[in-house]
Amino acid sequence: MPSATILGDSDGDVRMAGTLLREGQLIALPTETVYGLAGNALLEDTVRQIFTVKGRPLIDPLILHVHEWKQVESITAEIPPHARKLAEAFWPGPLTLILPKADCVSDLVTAGNPTVAVRMPAHPLARRILQAADVPLAAPSANPFGYISPTCAAHVMDSLGERLSWIVDGGPCQAGIESTIVDVSRPDAVRLLRPGPLSPDALSATLDGLPISTHTPQDAAKPAAPGLLARHYSPNTPLCLVSHGEQPPEAPEGRCAWVATSRQQAESSPSGYDRYWFSETGDPEDIARTLFAMLRKLDTLEHSRIYIELPPANGIGLALIDRLTRAAAR
Ligand code: TXA
Ligand code: MG
Repeated sequence: MPSATILGDSDGDVRMAGTLLREGQLIALPTETVYGLAGNALLEDTVRQIFTVKGRPLIDPLILHVHEWKQVESITAEIPPHARKLAEAFWPGPLTLILPKADCVSDLVTAGNPTVAVRMPAHPLARRILQAADVPLAAPSANPFGYISPTCAAHVMDSLGERLSWIVDGGPCQAGIESTIVDVSRPDAVRLLRPGPLSPDALSATLDGLPISTHTPQDAAKPAAPGLLARHYSPNTPLCLVSHGEQPPEAPEGRCAWVATSRQQAESSPSGYDRYWFSETGDPEDIARTLFAMLRKLDTLEHSRIYIELPPANGIGLALIDRLTRAAAR
């Protein structure tokens, strides 16, 4: 099978990516969170192809990516005051807002919902490509449905390279986990649908202390958003989660990996494990940047089980626990 051609950040490549996207081709591209599989959101056939390439069920709606406020207005029916405040504070950035949709947004994009997910990414190359394309781009994470999200171009090449013609390489993603999703479509409440790089505390502070209702991983059997399934981000090797600050069991059965949050915690484990750490010091932002790459790497090493230490449950740690809980679900 031929595999995808890699594009870079030259003006010529950006212009070409913009034209290909506008005309309906799919292109995997970097954002500050994870790589996205982008296509022109206004073309029904293109949107359908995104679902096909990912193997994603049609009940799981897509996020539309934009580069300017005018585009937000063109795809939404209304922008409630909370939404405007959050957008002013955090866009461009790793925040997705659920808003009432405009008629031009197809039911295929929103899976029949009256709302649309909108995000203005901060990655400079993503912004240049959005500007060149000059249409809203539908872009789910560029991984086969249910597998680990990609945080560099090589991850996209490994799992979708044969099903794609184009991948834009913008280096490793700076945040490393997907955007925070908040439902601001109702005037009375702001609801966190997916924890991410922006914590509920940061959102609440922007809204003068308004409480943000959250959906914990324990409620995951009832998805907060369609498609936010209990099992997701999953390596094929079984994962076993260990509370923060604790160690895996003495005497593992078979060849097992132990991934601690810090080097010190990895090195003080019982013997018999292949030892790894997400971050030298255990810094949660570092862990976010290495999480998905580590899961992908470990998934190629044929361990019988991977033990993973959870990070502390605050700030971005909440999002990391959410991803790890889903990755471990069977
Ligand atoms: O950081 C990100 O958000 C990345 C990058 C590429 O931008 N994108 C991403 O897309 O993570 P995806 O498709 O993997 O996850 C989008 C989530 C899905 O779980 C979907 O159910 C939810 O957003 N979603 C989309 N539209 C929605 C809507 N109208 N109402 C509720 N949830 C929605
Ligand atoms: Mg995804």
